[in-house]
Amino acid sequence: MGGAIKLETRGLSIGFGGLKALDAVDLEVPEGEIRGIIGPNGAGKTTLLNVICGINRPNEGEVLLDGQPLTGLKTSAIAARGLGRTFQTSRMFKGMTVLENLMTGLHDRLGANPLTAAFGLASVRREEREAAAQARAALDFVDMRRFESYESAALSFGQQRVIEIARALISEPKVLLLDEPAVGLSLPRVAELDRLLRRIRDERGVTIVMIEHVVQLVMGVCDRITVLSSGCKIAEGTSEQVTSDPAVIEAYLGKELHA
Ligand SMILES: Nc1ncnc2c1ncn2[C@@H]1O[C@H](COP(=O)(O)OP(=O)(O)OP(=O)(O)O)[C@@H](O)[C@H]1O
Ligand SMILES: [Mg+2]
Repeated sequence: MGGAIKLETRGLSIGFGGLKALDAVDLEVPEGEIRGIIGPNGAGKTTLLNVICGINRPNEGEVLLDGQPLTGLKTSAIAARGLGRTFQTSRMFKGMTVLENLMTGLHDRLGANPLTAAFGLASVRREEREAAAQARAALDFVDMRRFESYESAALSFGQQRVIEIARALISEPKVLLLDEPAVGLSLPRVAELDRLLRRIRDERGVTIVMIEHVVQLVMGVCDRITVLSSGCKIAEGTSEQVTSDPAVIEAYLGKELHA
């Protein structure tokens, strides 16, 4: 830990109608950290990821990756700078195999090359072969290669979540944003996800920012945790620090937060 700041937000604010979904949120995530983002429903967690990856534009503030501003760039340009993400609800394409689903993770990059069209079928076929090889490598990494020709809908919910992480890894992000990757997983699956996230950080050098409600995962795997409530950052620190913070206990009053 203690690396350079990899991902940073400065005074990030966004409103939807009269609602302030993010209110001057500052975030500094050092390289190699696994950062948890927690907070009650509607706190602004998903909105924070959406602003970071360019789906929503902030009204104020900026996002920096390696000190370079991302604010105002298109989602594809932000992805190309090294930002990957998964979504709160599954985005697997039904009726496609696992391998085909993974190859869609490369589609933006292949499609972004204007020469692809110009060089005709042979080059397209070569690109497809390379895409399949990269997709298989990602499946190997998450130990799901044996499922490559399964229809994605045939996989369990937990397996689909892992495939979505593999799909995000294909474009070799420097920072990976995960929106509730453990939702609906059984405890043994949560433990597997914990190990996978550590391997993504340790073996691939990826910095991870993860929204998560599953306390076992957040408290177990995250180096530090940022707590949002009503669009504001109300606490930040280790799991011990945030769970004993009166402002956090207040925000979760009547809700579940047990370390
Ligand atoms: N595109 C949008 N248009 C209008 N309101 C939105 C939009 N996106 C989010 N909101 C509102 O902003 C607030 C924050 O939503 P957000 O999805 O970021 O919360 P969250 O912390 O991810 O919640 P959850 O834990 O339920 O996923 C909510 O009140 C939500 O209804
Ligand atoms: Mg959310």
